Amino acid sequence: MKASIGIIGTGWVGTSVAFSTLLAGHAGELWLHDLRADVAEGEAMDLADGAAFYPRCAVSAVPLARMREADIVVLAAGRNGRPDESRLDLLRDNARAAAGFGRALAGFGGIVIVVTNPVDVLTRVVAEAGGLPVERVIGTGTLLDSARLRERLAVRLGLSTQSVHAQVVGEHGDSSVPLWSSARVGGMALRDWAGWQPGDEAALGLQVRRAAYEVIRRKGATNHAIGLVTAELIGCIVNDEHRLLPVSRVQAGACGIHGVALSLPALVGAGGALQVVAPTLDAAERDALAASAAVLGAAFGSLAG
Ligand code: LAC
Repeated sequence: MKASIGIIGTGWVGTSVAFSTLLAGHAGELWLHDLRADVAEGEAMDLADGAAFYPRCAVSAVPLARMREADIVVLAAGRNGRPDESRLDLLRDNARAAAGFGRALAGFGGIVIVVTNPVDVLTRVVAEAGGLPVERVIGTGTLLDSARLRERLAVRLGLSTQSVHAQVVGEHGDSSVPLWSSARVGGMALRDWAGWQPGDEAALGLQVRRAAYEVIRRKGATNHAIGLVTAELIGCIVNDEHRLLPVSRVQAGACGIHGVALSLPALVGAGGALQVVAPTLDAAERDALAASAAVLGAAFGSLAG
């Protein structure tokens, strides 16, 4: 099934989402919107020039109001971080625009995917500003962190990422929580893998947490990996795949978390992030997740100030 996908924001991230989505063939129509209308139009023209190299899709720049006709709207508008900034440092600059886009989508019947950082807080901002059902406002959250963790584990163990099953939950940010206790290599618990050292967990966890900073320090932003991750999430929705993915949404009680948007494994399909499946956590992971929820709750609360 091909969908109508709208992308708000045609900067580094929005255009990477567009490019990855086109190559994946998920969209029959791809609509771009940016406050810089000429930039959106130029990006649409540039992408359309490559039509011979991706599955058929009509790419165009559209007014914001047209986004309400999409099946999925991706919010990628906002300032990206500087090397010395955390994602939460972007909150003041990006929250006002996110709330405006949320209000513009009030009554929207499709799925909203939030990518703009700080993605967890802005997922909640968009859901509340638009009065949208929480299961239909999905933040990319720790889907990218989980991909980074699996890639680094695969390199460390000399295996394909397909054979490594590990995920990160909580904030897409400095308080993220790698779930080492449930990480598996094939059918074996990671912690039983010969040669795996407890120090590996701290080292790889730091690498994952620092990954974006190291990229931003060198090239000024991250875009390719988040573009691929977002296209994967779009495909899961468009094809109603019912996959368990660590995505961000306003939580409704899983792991004792209410009202805060953060990533936990959720069943993702055409209806959005419908059901959250609380992962098994050890004591350290439970404490770290609670701390992450507290950080995000305080960040959202700071907007009222
Ligand atoms: C990153 C951005 C998307 O982690 O937050 O690359």
